Amino acid sequence: MYDFFEQLVKQAGKMALEGFKGEFTTEYKDDVDPVTEWDKKVEKFLIDNIKQKYPEMGIFSEEDENRDLDKKFVAFIDPIDGTVNFSHKLPFFCVSLGIYRNGVAQMGFVYIPVLDEMFSAFRGKGAKLNGKKIQVSKTDKLNRSIIATGFPYDKHKSKENNVDNFSKMIVNVQGIRRMGCAAIDCCFVACGRLDGFWEIKLNPWDTAAGVLIAKEGGAEVTGFNGEDWDLLSGNIVLTNGCIHNKVLKVLSGEIENEKM
Ligand code: IPD
Ligand code: CA
Ligand code: CA
Repeated sequence: MYDFFEQLVKQAGKMALEGFKGEFTTEYKDDVDPVTEWDKKVEKFLIDNIKQKYPEMGIFSEEDENRDLDKKFVAFIDPIDGTVNFSHKLPFFCVSLGIYRNGVAQMGFVYIPVLDEMFSAFRGKGAKLNGKKIQVSKTDKLNRSIIATGFPYDKHKSKENNVDNFSKMIVNVQGIRRMGCAAIDCCFVACGRLDGFWEIKLNPWDTAAGVLIAKEGGAEVTGFNGEDWDLLSGNIVLTNGCIHNKVLKVLSGEIENEKM
């Protein structure tokens, strides 16, 4: 099963990269949330292949309206995570597939085609990048930490748009990155390129694979109050563990500015 999904996600990523290099159409789900023809083509490729090999598997995929959480196995699919990047010809995007069994993450695959990097994890067996074991960073100081975040598509309309959290964080850390792909953010924490990541209003297809990969790489993941992270809640704080409490305190306002 693991090899099948890994190969499938890699093929899907290569397909996305080919599409990215050519001309393509982009539509809009609302005023800012895009979907390109490749989101749909890559999604169809993944779903058709999964359904053919595992007809009983439930599918929960971003662009597909038939969402099925009631099956023993569920495949959470983000055919292209980073669609805004893709649609602007910024080459930073990935394909993400998380396999859950009875509500528990079993396998995760995130493939970044432009880097030819496959992040993967099997529950309890560690996380890998192109077949080699990876680990979170050991950074324990906020001012030496680089943290990623992102902003929800309704940021223009809702006050709950993460801008307040951004302001709290930026004065405490070495830097913040806004990569535009939540799945990659999780994987980059898993391999120590980032020390942490937080975001609000994410969807299960953004995080199902990346969070398992990060956890298997040694990351700590919670909600904003330190509670257990929930795939369906959308809010996430994911760090190397060493800085987790400090990040929570910054987000809650308990730490205002360590240096001033
Ligand atoms: C988005 C990306 C982005 C995050 C957004 C997501 P999409 O997914 O992961 O980094 O900030 O919240 O919706 O639309 O590119 O699949
Ligand atoms: Ca996404
Ligand atoms: Ca997407």
